[in-house]
Amino acid sequence: MKGNILVVDDEQIVLKSCERILSPEGYGVDTATSAKDALSLLDRNLYDLIITDIKMPEMDGIEFMRLVRAKNPDINIVVITGYPSQESIKEALSLRIIDYLPKPFSPTHLIEVTNNAIELKKRGVTPEPQVEDYTEDVAARLDEIIDRYKNKPGSLIPVLQEAQELVGYLPPVVQRHISKGLRIPVSEVHGVVSFYSFFTMKPKGKHNIRVCLGTACYVKGAEEIVKKFSEGLNVDIGGITADKKFSLETVRCLGACGLAPVVVIDKNTHGSVNPVKALELLKEYE
Ligand code: FES
Repeated sequence: MKGNILVVDDEQIVLKSCERILSPEGYGVDTATSAKDALSLLDRNLYDLIITDIKMPEMDGIEFMRLVRAKNPDINIVVITGYPSQESIKEALSLRIIDYLPKPFSPTHLIEVTNNAIELKKRGVTPEPQVEDYTEDVAARLDEIIDRYKNKPGSLIPVLQEAQELVGYLPPVVQRHISKGLRIPVSEVHGVVSFYSFFTMKPKGKHNIRVCLGTACYVKGAEEIVKKFSEGLNVDIGGITADKKFSLETVRCLGACGLAPVVVIDKNTHGSVNPVKALELLKEYE
């Protein structure tokens, strides 16, 4: 078995999905519909990873994580986020979560986050997340960026932009680094990252494919195009190919409805795309 995982969520459907997705991947999965049940499972069993919702009745995920950390400071925790408050994100980050799993999540994303967390556990790296793209060199260059903007008003957005250019995306560990460097609360950093659509917390491929699913594109068959890209690349929406060449995402109206259906790859807009053209585009960017 690859590892034992405890999934905590008050929604049965989420628990069932996690079980259905992770069991065939070789994980032992226990589930709990409340933090209280999860704590009693933790008393009886050993787990390599906890995946927990934040918003739960009676005891919420934050309180649950606090109790878990008090007993087991080293266990890896991944948080499932629906629409969390800035306060809860701040708390979750201070409790040293490994990663976020935004609801709804794709099977690929769940497997990827789980594999990564289990790998970290095996390497004895807990609980500070070691993001592959966050190397010592990157950390030093982030410091250089921060130094250039330090003490200047309105520095957060330009620092985030340069950090995203450098790392490719803004994972929690980079947000914490910036928060510390600029002496801005991590909740504020996270708030800005999640507010602006040009910031992303997920890694992107060398070529990022955005398929518009706005009304004009949707009625002209954009869904079929998403399917073609997804099948052609063997990647879900929001995912990245194993070779990191392509990432796939959907967006709402790119402001070019006259060209519907529209696909933007990197900075290039492609109009009147159909499933055949979608495959041709993939070849073009290969
Ligand atoms: S709906 Fe797709 S560009 Fe407007």
